[in-house]
Formats: sequence, C-alpha cells, structure tokens
Amino acid sequence: MKSDKTPENLRIRRRDIKFDLEPLDRYYFGNHPFKTHFMNALSTLFPIGEGQFIKSVMNFKDRIQEEGRWEEIQGFVGQEGAHSREHRRLNLLIGSLGYDLQPLDEDMTDWARKESNKSFKKQLAKTLCLEHFTAVMANVILKNNLEVVKDMQARIKAIWVWHAVEETEHKAVAFNVYKLVGGGYCMRAVTMLQATREIMRRIMKRTKYFMKVDNEWNFKNRWQGFKLGWGKKGIFSTSLRHYFKFFRIGFHPWDIDNYYLIEEWKKRYAKDSQSVLYI
Ligand SMILES: [Fe+2]
Ligand SMILES: [Fe+2]
Repeated sequence: MKSDKTPENLRIRRRDIKFDLEPLDRYYFGNHPFKTHFMNALSTLFPIGEGQFIKSVMNFKDRIQEEGRWEEIQGFVGQEGAHSREHRRLNLLIGSLGYDLQPLDEDMTDWARKESNKSFKKQLAKTLCLEHFTAVMANVILKNNLEVVKDMQARIKAIWVWHAVEETEHKAVAFNVYKLVGGGYCMRAVTMLQATREIMRRIMKRTKYFMKVDNEWNFKNRWQGFKLGWGKKGIFSTSLRHYFKFFRIGFHPWDIDNYYLIEEWKKRYAKDSQSVLYI
C-alpha cells in the first residue's frame, strides 16, 4: 500500500496515552478567546467525526485483508480511536467551564448518520478529504519547532502535538485504501470542495458559539481571529499551497514530505518519556 514517496521508516501504531488534562485554563491558548475557541471547535468535531472515519475505512475491511494490508489499517484505527477518546475527555472539561456541548454532538451525530447513508466509496472519499485537511492543520502545528502553539498551556499542547504527529503519520491511509478500491479523481476533487465547506462552516459556527457564551464575540476579537487565520503569517494563508496540492491529478499525501517533523518529535520524546506530556 506504500507509494514510492512514503517514508521508509514510517510505522503507524497506536500510542495509548492518557493525557493529564486538569486543570484546564479557560483560555489555554495564549490566554486568547478566539485562539482557544478555534481549537475547542476542532476538538468538538473529533470524537464522532473520527468514529465515522474509522467506519468508512472498515467498510472495506475484507478487501484490505485480501490484499494483505491490514497492519496499516490497524494502526490507523487504533490512532483515531485513541484521538476520539482523549478529545472526548478534553471536551468534557471544556463543557465543565459552562458550554453546552450536547447540540454540537447532536449535529455531528446527524452528520455521521447522513454520511452512513452514502455509498462506501463516497464515505471513504469524505474521510480522505478531511484527513488531508487535518494533515494540513497538523503541519501548521508541528512546523518551525511548534512555533504556532508556543503559548499554549503545556498539558493541553501535549494532546494537540500528539494528535498532529499521528495525523501526519497516517495521512495517507484512507487515501491508499481509496486508490486500492478504484476511487477516482473526480469524486475526490468534488468531495474536497464539499468537505472544506462543511468543516469550515462548522469550525466557524462553533467558535462563534463559544465566544458568544463568553461575551467575547466583539469586533476586536473577531478581527484578531481573522488575522490569525488569514493575515500574513495566518494559519490558513500560509497553508493554502499545501491544501491545494490535493487537487493535482497525480497527488499523493506523501508528496508533501514532512516526515522530519515526526522524527523531531520522536527525538524529543526519546530524551524524556514525560516530555510527550509537557513539550
Ligand atoms: Fe485523529
Ligand atoms: Fe486522522
């Protein structure tokens, strides 16, 4: 299942880490409502979203086993399962600060139900598109020595960095299965446009919800948020090139060779087994 560009040393395996998340600072990211709530919005998407990712890949279980490519899938399922669990724990803490997360979960349950009614191939296409989206976000977190998250509360940074590392490791898994079962370019390109619209709308809607509860949805914070996303060094403006590579006809996720980011993280982790918690 490996493409020529897949790093030789890549091994996708579950790291069953239970993070030490308490106490959680209300504005754990730079003491900044917009930055924190942007991450909170993402976190509320993961438990149910990643459950659907697993299902969409496992729909092809028999075919994958026939091809003798089970190990990579086990790694993917194990990693996403652990992400769902840890983000569920983080979300419980976020909820305990006074936000009602039930409508957000209901919205995701509804999304997953609608996805399940689509063809197996279409479900898988949605997964690989959202996996590209998360891989782009993961790259933003990990690059330049974790510059973007330097002012995040250490214990919370640990969970985001771990998630970013594993999203990078398994970024090609759903894509490879899609290729294996004969998925084509048109479906993945069209699905990417749909997926981007869906996820961006949800992230913004959720960020707005959190900020409104806090009475922080004012012009100053929104303008700062806009600059964080789309300013000169914004997380979206600096990753557009990465994002658009997906639309190339012969694209493969490892065309973006960022395996060195995982190696950097492993080196840090090897120095001190606790450093994964407080990088
Ligand atoms: Fe994940
Ligand atoms: Fe993932």
